[in-house]
Amino acid sequence: MSIAATVLDRIQRVTQLPKVSLHEPTFGGNELKYVTECIETGWVSSVGEYVNRFERELAAYTGAAHAVVVSNGTSGLQVMLELVGVRRDDEVLVPALSFVATANAVRHCGAWPHFVDSDIRSLGMDVSKLDAYLREVGEIRVDGCYNRRTGRRIAAVVPMHTFGHPVDMPALMSLAERHRLEVVEDAAESLGSWIGDRHTGTFGRCAMLSFNGNKIVTTGGGGAIITNDAVLAKRAKHLTTTAKQPHAWAFFHDEVAYNFRMPNLNAAMGCAQLERIGSFLEAKRLLALRYAEAFRDVPEVSLFLERTGTKVNYWLQTLLLAPEVASQRDEILAVTNAAGQMTRPVWELLYTLPMYGACERMTTPVADDLARRIINVPSSPQLIAGVV
Ligand SMILES: Cc1ncc(COP(=O)(O)O)c(C=O)c1O
Repeated sequence: MSIAATVLDRIQRVTQLPKVSLHEPTFGGNELKYVTECIETGWVSSVGEYVNRFERELAAYTGAAHAVVVSNGTSGLQVMLELVGVRRDDEVLVPALSFVATANAVRHCGAWPHFVDSDIRSLGMDVSKLDAYLREVGEIRVDGCYNRRTGRRIAAVVPMHTFGHPVDMPALMSLAERHRLEVVEDAAESLGSWIGDRHTGTFGRCAMLSFNGNKIVTTGGGGAIITNDAVLAKRAKHLTTTAKQPHAWAFFHDEVAYNFRMPNLNAAMGCAQLERIGSFLEAKRLLALRYAEAFRDVPEVSLFLERTGTKVNYWLQTLLLAPEVASQRDEILAVTNAAGQMTRPVWELLYTLPMYGACERMTTPVADDLARRIINVPSSPQLIAGVV
């Protein structure tokens, strides 16, 4: 059997469905009830009981002191970068292997992404390589770290927890202190992922969660800023709600700001989804075990599993092809998709995209290699009958 046929066979053994997508939301709880309540009461827009409740419940779940819900993760990331002091023509360190939004948010602030290589153990930023790199290209001045090559300030670093697998945040936090960098976590994919007893997104100054339709918990579209910094949380709420000073009837806005608040309608769905996150996570963990078992006798393919000390949400189940079959990745993708089992490669490396081709980067051999070897396979929690 060809490797493509073997991969298809193993996926079919796990999904046991003739046609299956990569990740579908599931709405079997209170979603309809809460959304209907918004429609019946008229509280569908940016004010209402559910936006406040969703914020409280996100903070409680993650252990962050504050949560501010926003229209999507990208806008949340943009606002956070602005709030930690990223300015036009600064540079921000981001992984070369990430969804395009990580870099777009940097550009929305007028700053430049500066790409970092991956760690094969986490799929996220390689912290020790970044440390060595900054010792070489970075120079500490009064207002922070500067890139000797471009003369620009490197203001922040944005670790991203790929498919829910956490970056080594304790190591990254000490690196950031040494090199005087702000840390903003892109935790879009890692709701329900932990390092020890700390939720991802609670290590840096602040973090973004995404509730896009394909995420572990969805609000249709939406995101949140989480932080332990009360001042930053207050500023985030102000800046994402048109900087309007609270008043019964007057329209006084004290700065140029954004209309980025999550509507109550979406937050209602989020509250219902969050009630069910425990069962989503349980199902995803079982699914990971089933894939691991199915591929046990296929030495060319392994399931990327959580590393010791972390608890992973298994947002997207991830196959890693052995180097000797990497050249057959596209055939595997073609065969599985043609047979109704939806699979996807990882994103194109960000520095290969036209708008980011000229940006600064370190050498990225690991990210380059991973980009050729990763395949995501069907990951919906409802693939595990009886749990969700
Ligand atoms: C790593 C990463 N960053 C940022 C985003 C952007 O989030 P959103 O789609 O909510 O804007 C996503 C997901 O969509 C993502 O996966």
